[in-house]
Amino acid sequence: SHPIIFDTDPGVDDAQAIAIALRHPEIELLGMTTTFGNVDVETATHNALLLAQLAGDDIPVAQGAACPMVKPRHPAPKHIHGDNGLGNIELPEVTGQADPRSAAQFIVDTVNQRPGEVTLVAVGPLGNLAAALQLDPAITGKVKNVIVMGGSIREGGNVTPVAEANIFNDAHAAQRVLTAAWPLTLVGLDVTHRCVLTPAHMARIESAQGKLGKVLAGSYAFYREFYRGALGIDGCCPHDSVALAWLVKPELFTTAQGHLHVVTEGAAEGQTLFAPMGRKFIEERWSMTPEQTVCLDVDGEAASNWIADTLS
Ligand code: BDR
Ligand code: CA
Repeated sequence: SHPIIFDTDPGVDDAQAIAIALRHPEIELLGMTTTFGNVDVETATHNALLLAQLAGDDIPVAQGAACPMVKPRHPAPKHIHGDNGLGNIELPEVTGQADPRSAAQFIVDTVNQRPGEVTLVAVGPLGNLAAALQLDPAITGKVKNVIVMGGSIREGGNVTPVAEANIFNDAHAAQRVLTAAWPLTLVGLDVTHRCVLTPAHMARIESAQGKLGKVLAGSYAFYREFYRGALGIDGCCPHDSVALAWLVKPELFTTAQGHLHVVTEGAAEGQTLFAPMGRKFIEERWSMTPEQTVCLDVDGEAASNWIADTLS
């Protein structure tokens, strides 16, 4: 099984992925860490606690970054996930409380307790992972893997023509995380835009998931309106769940190895640049950073069905 820490800004598609992390028999969810992004960090923590509660699972939730590391925050796009992050549906009371530790401290403690075992799955802006690196740089040699939902290699962006939201929301943090000396896979728009969670998928999920299913289906209905307008599809890209599909079903993906870099200033802020392994560049700094993995393609139908099947 895969022990993971899930770093998240829930968020409609985050909620779907959290449900998978809680339900999938091969995933051991050690805890969640929260960040600003789709919503402010307090709302993110509230939603993470609520989703765990609805699944009947009392896992730790540690709150993290309230804003980007260097620049002021870009406003959250309320029309995508709603003011409350879950499509503005009415939500039950939260009974549990957050872990007293910061997200970064929780990551450092957990990785040190189980050296070589823990995979960090990050599906929001990357401030918590960057802060954990700062707190204990030695964790690069102790995590098993890092999986980041973010960025785009060939697909173009969703916030600007070149930038994907999670990277754009804290490009400085992303640059640290994507160039650190730990094994990392980028699961970006190149693959998440190939996946569609359809209304038929969601109907199955709703009927199988009880109270949790009500929240997933209600928030999905709101998110679906955004996709109808933005991409002209009837259904939603389940971005954050695709990071978990990579964890459990890597055979569905086509990948490449190379060096990553994040643009932190100017019109291309938040763009992820990829230098394929073996290619020679005149500027040598392109081969100085560690080699990472990027996902370039996926069997989108199989990955989408895996998401629905896991929750049905
Ligand atoms: C990413 O941005 C957020 O809005 C989603 O939750 C996902 O993590 C997609 O670009
Ligand atoms: Ca997210």
